[in-house]
Amino acid sequence: MAFGSILCCGKGFDRKKKEESKTAWRIFSLKELHAATNNFNYDNKLGEGGFGSVYWGQLWDGSQIAVKRLKVWSDKAELEFVVEIEVLARIRHKNLLTLRGYSAEGQERLIVYDYMPNSSLLSHLHGQHSAECLLDWKRRMNISIGSAEAIVYLHNHATPHIIHRDIKASNVLLDSDFQARVADFGFAKFVPDGATHVTTKVKGTLGYLAPEYAMLGKASESCDVYSYGILLLEIATGRRALQKLNLTSNRSITDWALPLAREENFRELADPKLKGNFVKDELKRLIIVALVCAQKKPERRPTMVEVVELLKGEAKDKLTNLENKLFKSWHSADDHKNEIREDNADSILERKYDTPKPESKVAETVSKEKDDTPKPEFKVAETTISEEKDGTPKPEYKVSDSGFEGAQER
Ligand SMILES: Nc1ncnc2c1ncn2[C@@H]1O[C@H](COP(=O)(O)OP(=O)(O)OP(=O)(O)O)[C@@H](O)[C@H]1O
Ligand SMILES: [Mg+2]
Repeated sequence: MAFGSILCCGKGFDRKKKEESKTAWRIFSLKELHAATNNFNYDNKLGEGGFGSVYWGQLWDGSQIAVKRLKVWSDKAELEFVVEIEVLARIRHKNLLTLRGYSAEGQERLIVYDYMPNSSLLSHLHGQHSAECLLDWKRRMNISIGSAEAIVYLHNHATPHIIHRDIKASNVLLDSDFQARVADFGFAKFVPDGATHVTTKVKGTLGYLAPEYAMLGKASESCDVYSYGILLLEIATGRRALQKLNLTSNRSITDWALPLAREENFRELADPKLKGNFVKDELKRLIIVALVCAQKKPERRPTMVEVVELLKGEAKDKLTNLENKLFKSWHSADDHKNEIREDNADSILERKYDTPKPESKVAETVSKEKDDTPKPEFKVAETTISEEKDGTPKPEYKVSDSGFEGAQER
């Protein structure tokens, strides 16, 4: 995608309003951002991700910003930059991170956001702020509902609809009131009207990828529901999406939580940092919704609209029904066979990142319901799977002809 196409990001955006509204984005000069961040001083650095480093800054009017500075210039980095700007410029929601603007001078690519004083959810659950125990139960419930509402907005109210594809704890930032702000749209996909899914190369983070997406590249809203389910389990339990069992194997948070939930062992499930201070009914609700979202079969997952209803306790009968189905399917012999097959599929998936494997050439296509007509082909992006690691730089894995290519910089 040519950089010039960024200019279309203002499409559908009322320019008059842009000038008037305090939240509208604008183009920053590199000089202004150098001044705001004290020349991207190391002391201003808030963190580092796959795309680059993020710096705290202050503008001449006193407002605080976070500036993401792309690491290396490449076509791929350029694409992610353009996607992030294109998506963020179109959307406004109380639980989405607000774009302040961007700068693109020479080879520098910088994205300017509102500064989030309480950092990321990851830092509170597993990182630098976890010892402070600032996430009490009420905050956790608010963050869960707030991030769900942000995804509802992306799936149902943004035009065109948007699949985020990288819902995870480091991409949920927290404002001064500990309200959730979903961030990072570099992997997002627009869903054309009427399409049920987009077949594309796989991007995302290990532990959060829906099986049908990881295996077949089928990205749909339901993939975000799966990742959200994993995130919800992390919020309730304080555990990581993937737990290392030994050098060679991991256990998913769902495999750990499902038997405990069936036994109603909510004390064991709750994050020990809560020290037993939680509302039992709400915790139970949150865990059941999480497990229902993170089911392997996409058709069994709820929509994000239903998730919000369920979390708010507005659909008690529906929740009981879903809970019964969840545990029944886990019990039934037929389903158990399916689980075994799917588990095998998981191990194939794991091998996919470990051993050379012929490339499955997945061109990006858009599929519509009950429609077998030829599908338009879109630009193919690279396969990128990153690993979640406490805000430290993440390795990136690329699957190509020869299979696994190993870690490389994004
Ligand atoms: N708007 C912001 N306000 C405050 N801190 C931020 C903001 N944006 C990012 N950060 C901090 O910078 C860190 C790095 O963010 P970044 O999105 O680059 O990487 P990541 O989310 O850790 O990984 P990934 O590249 O896989 O998304 C975040 O974890 C967060 O702590
Ligand atoms: Mg991020």
